[in-house]
Amino acid sequence: MNFQITPSKLSEVKADLEIILVINQKLDHTFVQDKKLLKKAGFRAAQDELCLLVEKNRLYVGVDSLKGSDIRPAVATALRSLIGKKAYKRIKLATYLSHPRCTATLRAMTEGILLGSYSFTAYKTKKNRCHIKEVIVSLEGYREHEVSIESASRAVHNGEIAAAATNFTRDIVNTSPDDCYPEALAQIAIKLAKRNKLLCTILSPKELKKEKMDALLAVARASRHKPRVIHLTHKPKKPKAVVTLVGKGLTYDSGGLSLKPADYMVTMKSDKSGGSAVLGIMKAVAEMNLPIEVHGFIGAVENMIGGDAYKPDDVLVAKNGKSIEVRNTDAEGRLVLADVLCYAQQEVEADYLFDFATLTGACVVGVGQYTSGVMGHSPKVVERLLESAKNAGEHATALHFNRYLRKTLKSEIADISNISNSRYGGAITAGQFLAEFINNTHKNRWAHIDIAGPAFVESVWGENPHGASGVGVRMMLRTLEKLSREEGHNGTHGTRK
Ligand code: BES
Ligand code: ZN
Ligand code: ZN
Repeated sequence: MNFQITPSKLSEVKADLEIILVINQKLDHTFVQDKKLLKKAGFRAAQDELCLLVEKNRLYVGVDSLKGSDIRPAVATALRSLIGKKAYKRIKLATYLSHPRCTATLRAMTEGILLGSYSFTAYKTKKNRCHIKEVIVSLEGYREHEVSIESASRAVHNGEIAAAATNFTRDIVNTSPDDCYPEALAQIAIKLAKRNKLLCTILSPKELKKEKMDALLAVARASRHKPRVIHLTHKPKKPKAVVTLVGKGLTYDSGGLSLKPADYMVTMKSDKSGGSAVLGIMKAVAEMNLPIEVHGFIGAVENMIGGDAYKPDDVLVAKNGKSIEVRNTDAEGRLVLADVLCYAQQEVEADYLFDFATLTGACVVGVGQYTSGVMGHSPKVVERLLESAKNAGEHATALHFNRYLRKTLKSEIADISNISNSRYGGAITAGQFLAEFINNTHKNRWAHIDIAGPAFVESVWGENPHGASGVGVRMMLRTLEKLSREEGHNGTHGTRK
């Protein structure tokens, strides 16, 4: 899909269809030319409500306000309704600005267009795709606010990058587990690195053994697909900050010997969503050429059963020497992340360390399917993420650590147990388990993002399709873009050795 921005008036732009946003149910606005017809059709312009006037070649969409979080889903809903419709190849829209020179709405509109036109068709013989090739955005405004063509272009361009990265992540997550196994994830990373001039290192089982990542290796043992740890780097000259990202890349989570019930196992191809988000973020960071050194680490592993499987009652020793009593092999993500977090901290001293993981069902129970849980020792770092999530149109909420929950992870025979002895607070206890593998340097620079809810939802919601959402990508991009504009972080460290 190609975006063009033009100073020409909307009426002068040739297109197959015009998309018109009706804001706050103001059907009497001058932008709305078809008042009578819309009334006849019963169109009320409620948020995400559509009315296609086929003969007029106009698609009206209701939106509550000009906030990105309203614009993005409304525009996405409009575009989704055009999937499979071959008549519409060129569409046009006006520029909607909430404040003078504020291009946030324009960016959200661009993201909505690309996120809404997404469909995953890899396994369909008849592919129901979006046929739109050209999107023409006229600078003609909904309000009197002005915007320069340069800043409008920048907003559209960054929106395109952010949405394309989100769709890239969605494709990886939606891919079935026998097509997307750890080595396949590594190949995706290698290809991405080549295309975008990223550095890429892949650790094989031999190297993982040498690095003493025995917790990760235990989880991986029963699978015919051998594990990989992926390390991607974006290294600009004179970076303003160093950020490390770590992603859970369980290409399948059967639960292991603590086998999941049949109903819960379906969709567990999505347990690679954290790692896939890291891949998407690295793609966008490279395309935006952000002045931040960004390291992406992914623990790519498959959790299976078999004679060689790791077992409840096993005691594992993680890379940092801590012993872990395995009481449930389905709490495998934290074992993989423990080792990858240690490895990432050994390789890079970062100003910020963030991990993304579909870590617990408890997080979904606690905050619902649409919201990520953000945890960490530093309220400032957590707050930074919550704010970026909001600007990106993601839902995220803070979950707070406490000393009583920490005690529930005590083991009688090892340093720590991989599950809590309490049935409550599972998202937080998983976060506090990870905290045991964060060193003192990174303690207040780290946050853990549990994306178990929003990563994969089996119904359409807002700008997200059925299946993978690519959650985390836009939230982290906003964080990194904001860091790019700031001065003075912890004092730029970077790669060790
Ligand atoms: N991958 C799951 C968590 C999950 C659940 C992700 C639902 C997405 C949707 C994770 O590995 C897991 O199985 N966690 C267990 C932990 C428990 C054994 C302490 C869980 O949440 O039940
Ligand atoms: Zn599990
Ligand atoms: Zn898992």
